[in-house]
Amino acid sequence: MPIAEASPDHATDPASQQVDFLVIGAGIAGLSAAIRLAGAGSVLVVTKEELAESNTAYAQGGIAVALGGEEDVALHYEDTLAAGDGLVNREAAHILVEQGPKRVEELLRWGTAFDREHGELMLTREGAHSRSRILHANGDATGREIAVSLLRHVRAIPNIRLMEWTTGVDLLQASGRVAGATLLDGEGGILNIHARATLLASGGAGQVYSDTTNPAVATGDGIAMAYRAGAAISDMEFYQFHPTAFSQSGAPRFLMSEALRGEGAYLVNAKGERFMQRYHPLLELAPRDVVARAITMESLDGPVYLDMRHVTKDLHARFPGISHFLAKYRLELNRDLIPVRPAAHYLMGGILTDVHGRTTLPGLYAAGEAACTGVHGANRLASNSLLEGLVFGAFAADAMVSDSSRLPSVEQTPVPPQVSGEGSTLDANTERWIEDLRTNMWKHSGLLRDASGLETMQRALASLADTMPRGLNRRAIEARNLHTIASIITASALGRHESRGAHFRNDYPQHDSEARHSIMQRDELRFQSRI
Ligand code: SIN
Repeated sequence: MPIAEASPDHATDPASQQVDFLVIGAGIAGLSAAIRLAGAGSVLVVTKEELAESNTAYAQGGIAVALGGEEDVALHYEDTLAAGDGLVNREAAHILVEQGPKRVEELLRWGTAFDREHGELMLTREGAHSRSRILHANGDATGREIAVSLLRHVRAIPNIRLMEWTTGVDLLQASGRVAGATLLDGEGGILNIHARATLLASGGAGQVYSDTTNPAVATGDGIAMAYRAGAAISDMEFYQFHPTAFSQSGAPRFLMSEALRGEGAYLVNAKGERFMQRYHPLLELAPRDVVARAITMESLDGPVYLDMRHVTKDLHARFPGISHFLAKYRLELNRDLIPVRPAAHYLMGGILTDVHGRTTLPGLYAAGEAACTGVHGANRLASNSLLEGLVFGAFAADAMVSDSSRLPSVEQTPVPPQVSGEGSTLDANTERWIEDLRTNMWKHSGLLRDASGLETMQRALASLADTMPRGLNRRAIEARNLHTIASIITASALGRHESRGAHFRNDYPQHDSEARHSIMQRDELRFQSRI
């Protein structure tokens, strides 16, 4: 069975438009790229919901950056490598930590208001960081502050057009390269956008799991589109599970930021005992995969809690967003135990790119969580993701500008219309189908894996394929994309006979002697040591 079915192909002639650069996704990577692209041509940025709704806007803890000079940069590099568990692309990590300060200073010039004390930027610490280097804004609303300030900047640039409530359907290909994309607008209309270069900055795919900290938009659309077009996809078995999402029946898996542990929170089990000393010398600030597995083990005997009752700091002031959320459940950080459990949080894998965002398809670029430069290896260091979007969004934009000057303009590139809309309404069956997929993924392809569970998942995916939602409405498109993402994650996890970083196999608990990346392309899985 092929992993990805093409979108339904209907022979009508959709409306079409031309731009120089098409950016799909309006998080930190997409907006950073758009700002640089605007100096070289017209830019269209499309996003599936409102502009403010991206994974970026949900980032709480902060943005890791080494602002203290060379030694600080070197330490940030070492921490990034250590967290990535032998699989980090060193060139990408170098670029991340070295370019980071420059890009963050640019953000400051654009008005991003990081928290300060006596005029100095405040820095906090999170898991697996050897020092405090995490900037935050409005306490625990760092992503939102960055998104708002980038949007303010973008809106003032005449060359950039923003299009909300628009879903990517498929990439357009002509003359051996990607030449734009087919989009579904908010009214169900189909539009072909022809572009000299196309950037997928469409974020992650946390919605593939029933428990996730990600918003509803995170359905892996860009990765699935790239896969259908034939691009190589890498390291998809490495899904980071955040250890501490809120855990109460009927409540969303709201993120209880790692910064809580950075500010001294303990993890305690149902007996009220701290337990991390049995799992890692860094205790509550151990790497995320270790903490997530430890919580899963302790949860076998009852709920696990974050305990901040001993912390004297005013936690309401430091974490206003989390405090506001907890108040709805009559909980307070300084007073109560907060029930937590792991949830899918961040995809280390994605569309394979070089450090300039070039995918394996000419004309197609990717950046941010949708991309896999290998910068995070098998496990991302906390708060490196906003920095990744900022740094590699800008790098991808520079490559798009320089490469596209060598390509024929889109006017000379014939692009056949590929799809058109088919009215199909949202229905309960689609929602049930998606829920079935997500629950199965959590159970069989989640935090703890083995061959039997992964094979069960593959059978579930084969049977879900028989009833795959059809039509060109947003939910059906998302359902098919989630199926593609789930299939790639499961096949890659089954093929990796070791445990490394965020990928843990009960039946292969050790590392392989050689660290290798998985690559999935056109239904074939291979492993190679360099990407
Ligand atoms: C958090 O605030 O714990 C999330 C930060 C991150 O995922 O990098």
